[in-house]
Amino acid sequence: MTNSSEVDDTVTPIRMQILRKFLTTETVLSGEELSQTFRVSRTAIWKHIRELELLGFQFTSVHSKGYQLTGKPNIVLKPLIDVFLLPNLSLGKELIWLPVTDSTNTFAQTLIQQGASHGTVVVAGEQTGGRGRRGRFWFSSPDGLWMSIIIRKPIPLVHAAELTLLTSVAVHRSICKLTGLPVQIKWPNDLLIRWKKICGILAEVRTEAETIVQAVIGIGINVNIRREDFPESVKDTATSLVAEGSAPLNKAQLVANILNELDRLIEGLVRGERPFSVIFPEWKNACATIGAKIRVQTGIEVLEGTAIDVNESGTLFLLLSSGEVRAISSGEVLLQTFSDGGQDEKD
Ligand code: BTN
Repeated sequence: MTNSSEVDDTVTPIRMQILRKFLTTETVLSGEELSQTFRVSRTAIWKHIRELELLGFQFTSVHSKGYQLTGKPNIVLKPLIDVFLLPNLSLGKELIWLPVTDSTNTFAQTLIQQGASHGTVVVAGEQTGGRGRRGRFWFSSPDGLWMSIIIRKPIPLVHAAELTLLTSVAVHRSICKLTGLPVQIKWPNDLLIRWKKICGILAEVRTEAETIVQAVIGIGINVNIRREDFPESVKDTATSLVAEGSAPLNKAQLVANILNELDRLIEGLVRGERPFSVIFPEWKNACATIGAKIRVQTGIEVLEGTAIDVNESGTLFLLLSSGEVRAISSGEVLLQTFSDGGQDEKD
């Protein structure tokens, strides 16, 4: 269970405001000016700056003038994503940063029970119990990006698969834009580079009758993890952006890019516009699965064959050796025969 003490209560709103002020000011800020702006004593300002330093921010004290922000940690705080976020999005209005939690998806579910609003984002520095599909453990060391997005607008249940398909496209676009790496999508929504997994998506939904009333979209991206830091169990099947040649990424910028892309797509889904059919050619172009010989775990069986196509609803068509073509609306391409892998421990 997520422990409420894991909430980073050192980042109080005033600390956020002080940080925002430093981020938008190039010059030195005096203690006096800050204390007047925020109506607290200079000692209180100094304490807030100390707390920000504990989070990894660096301030240089300029003699008799004040403080200057000279270094930022690679963490995801609201003021840090706002610099990159498009205006008027419904995703990312609220953002909670947790240095450590068991699972951001679990934490987001708890927040929903407490009334969290649509678009709230939870990001963790590290997960101790990261969850993958089919109940698997998800390796989540401090150099990755582990986030969950709360969706609280009604979506017809028939479009459930599109939630993750759209998310994979938003992440694909963002990573391509920021790194230029050759990222591909493994049906339905894993992201790969050179057949190794760099991103997994786990959507958990609550339905009423034929409607999704709430969803948590969990996204795990192996951003800055060094090749040698992956555990033995996933070494052959997972990779990271830096291991594939990217410069280390600013995680706040990556989160903002994903939200910028996903916001429009989700809004379209909520309005019943079938946005996946619009971006389908893009998804298909990035899809590594079509044409490959694969084994697919459906809910009830494992099927082997050639993936011959995917349609605009995300249904995969698998040609079996018997000549029969099976339509598979949900499932998972297994690791053994598909030469890709996953961040999943080997089955
Ligand atoms: C998969 O099996 O491919 C899905 C992996 C999803 C991992 C992410 S990391 C952030 C969020 N929190 C979790 O516990 N899981 C998802």
